Amino acid sequence: MKLTIFAATGGVGRQLLTQAVAAGHDVTAVIRNPDKLSARVRIVTADLAAADPAALESAVAGADAVLSGLGPRSTSETGVASQGTLAIVQAMQATGVRRIVVVSAAPISTVPSPARPKPPRHDPGDGFLMRHLLSPLTKAAFRQHYADLALMEDLLRDSGLDWTIVRPPRLTNKPLTGTYRTAYGRNLRRGILVSRADVAQYMLRVLEQPETIKQAIGIAR
Ligand SMILES: NC(=O)c1ccc[n+]([C@@H]2O[C@H](COP(=O)([O-])OP(=O)(O)OC[C@H]3O[C@@H](n4cnc5c(N)ncnc54)[C@H](OP(=O)(O)O)[C@@H]3O)[C@@H](O)[C@H]2O)c1
Repeated sequence: MKLTIFAATGGVGRQLLTQAVAAGHDVTAVIRNPDKLSARVRIVTADLAAADPAALESAVAGADAVLSGLGPRSTSETGVASQGTLAIVQAMQATGVRRIVVVSAAPISTVPSPARPKPPRHDPGDGFLMRHLLSPLTKAAFRQHYADLALMEDLLRDSGLDWTIVRPPRLTNKPLTGTYRTAYGRNLRRGILVSRADVAQYMLRVLEQPETIKQAIGIAR
């Protein structure tokens, strides 16, 4: 496939890039700092907080699918997930590219957003500890970041594109296992960790699974 990978220098993004190249896909990597990547792929440089639409359109034009590992490196960058994803979506709409897979986060099903002001109080997949301790704690700690991800999810749902949202719990740098669990529209019971490598593998895998279109999918070890 012809794939465009955004944020290919991040934790998930690097895994997406490595696995996609190893699988023989024709990859375009969109990154803001070309010094950070030595892979022999087509590279498009773009800061997604202030992206030039023409550069993004040239990056996605002709792609079979777009994958994004975009997220803020620090709290000062909060907002980039929705802002950057909007720019990606607009570039896809302008060039007629339909398929996009992004990484969000496990608690987002219960985070209010403009399009979902009253989300369910608990994710149906979360157990007692997650509902009453871990989820409230992480939601308090990452409130703004999660609001940004919830907004990103809103704009994908509203995009008319063929989107898939993958919602991992805490990410690790452990090796690829391929033995993670997934569930449509909910988190996984006792699922508190998953490796970036496994998330990337799943993001690539859903490209061959049309039933994952317009789904938010929980993933965990
Ligand atoms: N960490 C967790 O445990 C966890 C858990 C659940 C969900 N998540 C979500 O998963 C996402 C991906 O995780 P990760 O560990 O792969 O993140 P990461 O390593 O921090 O990677 C973030 C990527 O976004 C890029 N980026 C940030 N701002 C940009 C901008 N203005 N223009 C272009 N690129 C920009 C970064 O580019 P540079 O390399 O140039 O900085 C980097 O490639 C997180 O952002 C978060 O939303 C994380």
